[in-house]
Amino acid sequence: MKLKHITRAIMAISICAGIAPAHAAEVEVLHYWTAGGEARSAAELKKIMESKGVSWKDFAVAGGGGENAMTALKARVIAGSAPTAAQIKGPSIQEWGNEGVLANIDAAANEGKWDAVLPKVVSGIMKYKGHYVAAPINVHRVNWLWVNPEVLKKAGATAPTNFDEFFAAADKIKKAGLIAVAHGGQPWQDATVFESVVLGVGGAEFYKKAIVQLDTASLTSPTMIKAFDTLAKIKTYIDKDAAGRDWNLATAMVINGKAGMQFMGDWAKGEFTAAGKQPGKDFLCLAAPGTDKAFTFNIDSLAMFNVKGADQQKAQLTLANAVMSPEFQEVFNLNKGSIPARAGVSRAKFDSCALKSMDDMDATSKSGGLVPSFAHGMAIDSAKAGAIQDVIAKFMNSNMTSQAATQALAKAAKAK
Ligand code: BGC
Repeated sequence: MKLKHITRAIMAISICAGIAPAHAAEVEVLHYWTAGGEARSAAELKKIMESKGVSWKDFAVAGGGGENAMTALKARVIAGSAPTAAQIKGPSIQEWGNEGVLANIDAAANEGKWDAVLPKVVSGIMKYKGHYVAAPINVHRVNWLWVNPEVLKKAGATAPTNFDEFFAAADKIKKAGLIAVAHGGQPWQDATVFESVVLGVGGAEFYKKAIVQLDTASLTSPTMIKAFDTLAKIKTYIDKDAAGRDWNLATAMVINGKAGMQFMGDWAKGEFTAAGKQPGKDFLCLAAPGTDKAFTFNIDSLAMFNVKGADQQKAQLTLANAVMSPEFQEVFNLNKGSIPARAGVSRAKFDSCALKSMDDMDATSKSGGLVPSFAHGMAIDSAKAGAIQDVIAKFMNSNMTSQAATQALAKAAKAK
């Protein structure tokens, strides 16, 4: 049979059987949402796309913080087969833009009036050279402390608001025979704790000078030494099995009452929610010690890659529209633990932690307390962020002094 005939035959079969033709619209989406709450959230986007007649090809790469996913993405782009979209954030969007591989999605942005419904701090990140190349999904707050109130009660401890109170509570939890701090020894989790400690010890202005502007004097200052001393003390409350532990397993320790507290962004809330737990009753979401007046933001977004063919381009714009729809931003973020990135989403179904996050984001955007999360790729370029993360991980896993750590930090801040 000639090729022409085979094609015709296949088409006939497809039509008879109601099978989608080979060119059916499809989006392939790279992400790393594989933990319980994350997977529930991603499933909602898949559902919406399928309801629009676009099939979803899942390109999920497990690994919190997304390091594995970024390695997989690089390999695909180098091989010339980029996915339709990938979960890329912050300054990395500019780095991918510089490679010339991102797609212009202004058509969706104009139709949806994105400039009007997005805060400037969000829309600025989504554009490359003035054009939208990414669609924002949410705002995660990173400077949280997740607490099991039952554990506090058992230990006779109270919810901490600053580091003195935090260590007092941690001592009591330890004495009660429980783990005070649930943690997973992975570099990105170490960095997550570190940035909350810097914020709590030094305040938002110090955080900006040190972590965002990478000012050498701040990086090597007595305040930074105090931050490392605080981190060293936190280490003593982490159990011996923490090495390599995934973040969601650390959250599970707080959920199950094995541990009392965890420093983690509010994707942790997605785990509490997926386990049927209620904020204020089964768990507490507290600002990390000393950071009540500040907000480290981490905005998830899907960056769009150049795709071939009108069908695929159309499907990509459908994806961008879906991501920005109020319906999606509501349901995704209810599951994910984050808050919508856009205006115009009802607050009605969000819990007290999310409402606090919304209000605090608003207040800190006026007070100057709103700062980008370094540990989650929002503050500085990936080379410097990687080098700094290595220093923190080394500090967490050795007897490095705080003094030496600040010197190493200043050196890492110059990485290219
Ligand atoms: C991402 C979240 C994700 C978390 C754990 C963060 O960097 O922004 O969406 O849930 O990492 O993987």
